Amino acid sequence: MAEDDATLLPVPEHAGALGVLDSGVGGLSVLRHLRAQLPAERLLYFADQAHIPYGPRPPEEVRAFSAGITRFLQRRGAKLIVVACNTASAAALDFLRERFPRLPIVGMEPAVKPAAALTRSGKVGVLATPSTLNSHRYAALMARFAGGIEVHEDPCVGLVQLIEAGKLDAPETRALLQRVVDPMLAAGVDTLVLGCTHYPFIRPLLEEIAGEGVAILDPAPAVARQTANVLQQRQLAAPPDQTGSLHCFTSGDAEQLTALTARLLGSRCPTTAVRWAGQGVKLRRVP
Ligand code: DGL
Repeated sequence: MAEDDATLLPVPEHAGALGVLDSGVGGLSVLRHLRAQLPAERLLYFADQAHIPYGPRPPEEVRAFSAGITRFLQRRGAKLIVVACNTASAAALDFLRERFPRLPIVGMEPAVKPAAALTRSGKVGVLATPSTLNSHRYAALMARFAGGIEVHEDPCVGLVQLIEAGKLDAPETRALLQRVVDPMLAAGVDTLVLGCTHYPFIRPLLEEIAGEGVAILDPAPAVARQTANVLQQRQLAAPPDQTGSLHCFTSGDAEQLTALTARLLGSRCPTTAVRWAGQGVKLRRVP
């Protein structure tokens, strides 16, 4: 059933914004490219920190959370949604497009296609979450583009939580990455795919561990370009003289998100805390 009938919607407080969603701060690695490529756009960012990590959750649950957040952002005025999360894209993209047929929705997938084109050794490593690696969408991606290459996958269990805790260069983060990457390097992998939007934030550490000669692929710039294309095609782009802005929402702790956002983006951003209600399908502002 379609949910995005405009007649049902109250007057939105952030009309004409781009809504960006993730389980936590990972989507900020996409948002920084949206800001750079689309400086006139107003951005709403939703971090579902009450439910992080999404990676070990069943797809039905991730679908329900993604639909609840999409509804919340649309009702606040979002004109387009960027699912800045590989796990939510894998589980929920088709479902969201069916549920919200009038709302343009941009998703993402691990950069297996560019990796297959780039690798010289024919061996590629994919770092993603368990749910992404187990998804039908990922299986279809592999069947389409990974025919001629050897792919080494790792679900990087615990890495998302370390990044959420701001441990971008901590000994335990380094140890986890070494456990993941060393066997890939030993097997001859020369291209690493960042298949989770949290991982670009530990890229410097990864580059140090992987060493020169290993390419690291982050799809975020391509997601921002795709968003710009969709805005142009649908004639939804903000007027070029508009000043861009950012407002964040979290289902977790607002102060904690503000502090981490300041660190990851280099500037503080106004943040509103919201709470899930009705078995995790509806969001309410914290009074
Ligand atoms: N950042 C997300 C992704 O791209 C989700 C991480 C998680 O919550 O497990 O997959």
